[in-house]
Amino acid sequence: MNKKLLIAQPVAEELKIFGERYKNSIFCNNMRLQEIIDYIMKSDGKRIRPTLLLLAAKACGDINDITYNSAITIELLHTASLIHDDVVDESDMRRGRASLNAIYDNKMAVLVGDYFLSTALIKSVLTGNIRIISDISDLGRDLAEGELNQLSLVKELILDETEYFEVIKKKTASLMSVCMRIGAMSVDAPEEDVIKFTKLGEILGLCFQLRDDIFDYFTDAIGKPTGNDIREGKITLPLLFALKEATEEERKELHSVIFSYDYTQENINKLINYARDHGGIDYAYRKIQELKSEAEKIIETIPNTEVREALDAAMDYIVERAY
Ligand code: IPE
Ligand code: IPE
Ligand code: MG
Ligand code: MG
Repeated sequence: MNKKLLIAQPVAEELKIFGERYKNSIFCNNMRLQEIIDYIMKSDGKRIRPTLLLLAAKACGDINDITYNSAITIELLHTASLIHDDVVDESDMRRGRASLNAIYDNKMAVLVGDYFLSTALIKSVLTGNIRIISDISDLGRDLAEGELNQLSLVKELILDETEYFEVIKKKTASLMSVCMRIGAMSVDAPEEDVIKFTKLGEILGLCFQLRDDIFDYFTDAIGKPTGNDIREGKITLPLLFALKEATEEERKELHSVIFSYDYTQENINKLINYARDHGGIDYAYRKIQELKSEAEKIIETIPNTEVREALDAAMDYIVERAY
């Protein structure tokens, strides 16, 4: 069976219900704003986060309205973060279409992102669960902090693997971690299961961002631009590794490009090729494999066979995905 079907299988019915509710989760009487909302809601993402949330809930109990409202909250918050991220990254494409900042402008995109974020908070309140609301609120801060720290690394010319991992933990892994955590909490899972899914979500999130960062070194069509990270001065794991391994002379030359923010297409290609040719991509995959074995150990302990197989497939998909 196809990987994506395998991942969704235990929650196929619930994902349909989620899809219906999600579609109707955000609207506005203001026609101008509604038009923009429609534009965003017409292009679905992969919905990996709601799927993981539903799987965690299924593994621990019976999916209910708290679970659905949590999933809607998460997908709205994720969408808000992408709208804002495309402003921050000056990116003109998202989910295979023009990004909001490209179609309108940054001002509109910031405000529409705020509208999605606030709607997400309203949906979290509908769960009536103070721990879930509290986790979602903390998450909003973590996402902002991750994006902000990433900008600081660029500005302060910090090239450091530990700092890189701190950034991806906050900007991406926190979201997947909270997803699985509140999925478990929504069905009143025992605390040890909540902790287990919190950890699993974090590992999946780290792998997801590592894979996403690898995309940037290639030119495959993935529904958003590639080569963008370096253009913005974002030095991700493959290049960090290659720089560490470089000879003094090579490093000097590459640093001179990075430290002068001289990101012409020619220089971007130079950095990308350097990272690829000096084992940077292989190193990032090795890190993913290490995390994957950690995740597998947690997945093994899940009693529900169907969910266990789906999460194994999710792990494989995150590593192998083509977009
Ligand atoms: C994009 O996430 C942001 C990252 C963390 C890399 P997804 O790739 O899950 O985005 P959609 O929702 O499928 O568009
Ligand atoms: C992803 O950031 C995490 C967010 C906070 C949205 P990226 O900038 O790496 O994600 P893409 O590549 O634009 O999807
Ligand atoms: Mg981006
Ligand atoms: Mg970004």
